[in-house]
Amino acid sequence: MEIHAPFVARKCEPGQFIIIRVDEKGERVPLTIADYDREKETVTIIYQVVGYSTELLSKKKEGDYVADFVGPLGQPSILHKRERVLGVAGGVGAAPLYPQLRKLAEMGVPVDVIIGGKSAEFVILKEKFEEFCENVFIATDDGSLGTKGFVTNVLEDQIAKGVKYDEVIAIGPLIMMKNVVKITKQHDIPTMVSLNPIMIDGTGMCGGCRVTVGGETKFACVDGPDFDGFQVDFDECMKRQTMFREEEHECKIGRGK
Ligand code: FES
Repeated sequence: MEIHAPFVARKCEPGQFIIIRVDEKGERVPLTIADYDREKETVTIIYQVVGYSTELLSKKKEGDYVADFVGPLGQPSILHKRERVLGVAGGVGAAPLYPQLRKLAEMGVPVDVIIGGKSAEFVILKEKFEEFCENVFIATDDGSLGTKGFVTNVLEDQIAKGVKYDEVIAIGPLIMMKNVVKITKQHDIPTMVSLNPIMIDGTGMCGGCRVTVGGETKFACVDGPDFDGFQVDFDECMKRQTMFREEEHECKIGRGK
């Protein structure tokens, strides 16, 4: 979805995010900035319909309005001029990964990407990545596109083939990032991940987005969302992410009536 948001579009950088509120009573949904056009003054967001608010958002038509679109929030990604970088994306994680890899390619860094999804329809932005990535690998759980299996299978294959990456950027479900880090740690490949915990204000005041990184409490909204994957306590993040699942479900059922 392309949103006309001049102030955000003028200042945002890869890695940053916005918080959208679809209507005045809506929850605040953090979404990464997938792309931006400074001339058109637009910001592109990509989301998956998972709850009440994203469902409501999906019903918007061209020319409609949303209540708020706050940003850019968080720290821009720190992109290093490496020899070769591998991006690993799971599902909608391809959206925040895309501007980061594109910027690296613009800096002259050779980039490869592995895009994963449950099935072919969950693999997004393949053609966009093909515009600048040297290799685009696909992995789907059911084998409907690319390798049948997980992104980690492709990652292991690439490492086994002797392809040398000096940085990996992994963005996707927590379990995927955790498993990517398990492999890259063994091979000592620096790995950045992007965390998307429960957020409320997005400005460092509520503490809702706290994560443990290197034994310290960090707020993903102001200190992140990118962190050194080797330092992240993924198990704690996963526990916190499911905290309000029941309420979310109730909200969806209740409001749907
Ligand atoms: Fe409130 Fe980060 S969302 S402190």
